[in-house]
Amino acid sequence: MKIAPSMLSCDFAKMGDELIRIDKGGADWIHLDVMDGHFVPNITIGPAIVSALRQYSKLPFDVHLMIDYPLDYIEQFAKAGADIITFHIEAKSDIQATIDKIKSLGVKPGLVIKPKTSAEEVFPYLEQVDLILVMTVEPGFGGQSFMADMLPKVTAIKEKAKELGKNMLVEIDGGVNDKTISQAAKFGVDVCVSGTGVFKASDAKEAIDNLKRLSEV
Ligand code: DX5
Ligand code: ZN
Repeated sequence: MKIAPSMLSCDFAKMGDELIRIDKGGADWIHLDVMDGHFVPNITIGPAIVSALRQYSKLPFDVHLMIDYPLDYIEQFAKAGADIITFHIEAKSDIQATIDKIKSLGVKPGLVIKPKTSAEEVFPYLEQVDLILVMTVEPGFGGQSFMADMLPKVTAIKEKAKELGKNMLVEIDGGVNDKTISQAAKFGVDVCVSGTGVFKASDAKEAIDNLKRLSEV
């Protein structure tokens, strides 16, 4: 399984060094949480920070937009160096237009669903996106408890995609740590985001290695 540490739990005053630390520690992707204080009750980073971080790692930047109007910011995040941009199906921008915009800039699009949104909501878009992100906490904050009851959505999405002849990448985000990752692995999750599970560990490399080992089924 791929591990995407979420920079939300890093020391924000040392973001460059923190990124180098997880890059050297064996991270597969770098997960960057963008919050606007409207879609979720928290404010985090914008394109300027993503762009400033770009020089410290060649790993894929997985930018998770938790904002009301993703379409208005796609270009800025693409220019900042995003490799993957995921946005919420619950957001206010036109979904099709947002997918098209992401693709037109050579970036991989992904759709995200909150815990209360069913897997079926993303079915109409499966042929057009590279990945589906299933939230396993309510978006907004790191360090919350894992919602294991979201995992059947992973199976449902992968099965539907298979029917369409596509091997869909499914990522989960929220509460993934050494206690919860093995449950996720049983449902065929491809990528796990982990914030506190990686950054609050004393040794990031050890934490990432451990998560990968525990996800082997
Ligand atoms: C929550 C964010 C997550 C968060 C995960 O809204 O999307 O990426 O950083 O943090 P942990 O792994 O601590 O739950
Ligand atoms: Zn996230």
